[in-house]
Amino acid sequence: MIFITRRERFNAAHRLFRQDYTDEKNLEVFGKCSNPNWHGHNYILYVTVKGEVNQETGFLINLKELSKVINLHVIEKVDHKNINLEVDFMKGKLASTENLAISIWDELDLPLQRLNAMLHSVKIYESENNIVEYLGPKINFGS
Ligand code: NI
Repeated sequence: MIFITRRERFNAAHRLFRQDYTDEKNLEVFGKCSNPNWHGHNYILYVTVKGEVNQETGFLINLKELSKVINLHVIEKVDHKNINLEVDFMKGKLASTENLAISIWDELDLPLQRLNAMLHSVKIYESENNIVEYLGPKINFGS
């Protein structure tokens, strides 16, 4: 089993809030990310896939192909967008980095399987200090 990671970047706006909270309560729970007039982050996305090396190519996956899939299914949909208002796969969800990581996993899972690569993790740096990593709906110990 070998792992390979592709890094992609995007910037996007969001707001963390609940409609059933007052602005004060939203500020208390979500901090600066609850700003009613939105704000942005420079997100860095790390997508790690795993599998076996193809003996013919020496690759697990062609990194150009991996990048193409990530760009088509994720980056083009979120880059320079408002995550709350414009991103189809985040519709109706709280625009947290946790939910973003889970939704990005769901976007990439099938297209990557079609390339014979198994998704291992989706890691998002919302900032230098705030990092979320999702290892999928179930972790297969010992696989
Ligand atoms: Ni924020």
